[in-house]
Amino acid sequence: LGLRASVFATLADKIRHPPAGFLPLHIGDTCLPPPEAARLDRLDWSRAPNPYPYSHPAGLPELLEHLAGRLAEVWGFQGMVPERLQITCGATHALSCAARTVLNPGDEVLILAPFWPLIPGVLSSAGLVAVQVPFSDRLYADPGCSVVDLLAPYLSARTAALYFASPNNPDGKVLSRGQVEALAEFALRHDLWVFSDEVYQDYVYDGRSHLSIASLPDMAERTLAVFSFSKSYGLAGARVGYVAGPADVMGHLRRVANHSVYNVSAAMQYVALQALRHGQAFLEEARRTYLEARRLLVEGLAGARFPLPEGGAYLWLELDSEEAAWELVDRALQQGLALAPGEAFGRDYKHCLRLCFTAAPPAEVARAAAILRPLLGLG
Ligand SMILES: Cc1ncc(COP(=O)(O)O)c(C=O)c1O
Repeated sequence: LGLRASVFATLADKIRHPPAGFLPLHIGDTCLPPPEAARLDRLDWSRAPNPYPYSHPAGLPELLEHLAGRLAEVWGFQGMVPERLQITCGATHALSCAARTVLNPGDEVLILAPFWPLIPGVLSSAGLVAVQVPFSDRLYADPGCSVVDLLAPYLSARTAALYFASPNNPDGKVLSRGQVEALAEFALRHDLWVFSDEVYQDYVYDGRSHLSIASLPDMAERTLAVFSFSKSYGLAGARVGYVAGPADVMGHLRRVANHSVYNVSAAMQYVALQALRHGQAFLEEARRTYLEARRLLVEGLAGARFPLPEGGAYLWLELDSEEAAWELVDRALQQGLALAPGEAFGRDYKHCLRLCFTAAPPAEVARAAAILRPLLGLG
């Protein structure tokens, strides 16, 4: 299948015995507890669906209705109805179902790099070929550069789809309207499916806004957009995500989902529903907390090389070489700070490192920056 052990496994070996005050900035996590209404000890279980038997494989009807309404009202999805949604075991399962539904083994998928580390394996385990396209680092370096020029060299007769995340993991790039439109035009011209990873849609900073490619003209028919409660509401352990797609493929996607997990835990879907109903204050508090953490990290690392993250949860540091990056990982670990090595995020990024600024409270993130400054030679 071409599935390789992740660098996170190597890292986990090195972190067997974390010291007191350990700073786990290598993983994509949040320091915040989920919205109060969604916590297991606060839920009114008398109103919850019976969690013990199998539940409807598409998802809880009430959750599907809420999500369809939100996608239509907040994110501009035209004609969104519950029938065009499938609840999945996180966005990971959503992407796996999407790829297995519309593609055939041997098809190539352009994955815009640097990328979320699991995507190559999600695709290769479905018999697909992930083709890495250096992308958002190029856009940071030159916001005016042509999206089509970046993609075109990687097209082949077997290219069938395009995968990208905005905001992006690991570099926080939020695509502008013009860039999303250019991707849409490219997909239309070359008749590609689009897997639009929108799991960080709620975390976009500095007055920018999130634009779903599925909301652009003629794109709903060729886009499978994936979302997650993991990032939006700090519910990664609940494993609830969803995928929105064109009506005519959702029947098949449902069968793929049914044959992989049957139904997602009804108890956890109820947790997600409660987060959705009552989570507005959480979203606002999380944005404030993450922005403060980003500010402290960016200030603390002034003089280092990184783009200002435009959204999401990560800062993407550039070093001089792969050796320098691994040396920094090791030296930071000795001081109780874990960072994610760049090689997890694409072939061309072994000299980079990712720090998650949402995984610890802002003051702890500032402490991480203080540990890193001398290691980066910043004095
Ligand atoms: C860009 C991106 N997509 C998908 C996922 C997977 O999310 P989930 O926990 O919903 O499977 C992550 C998790 O880190 C992510 O960063």
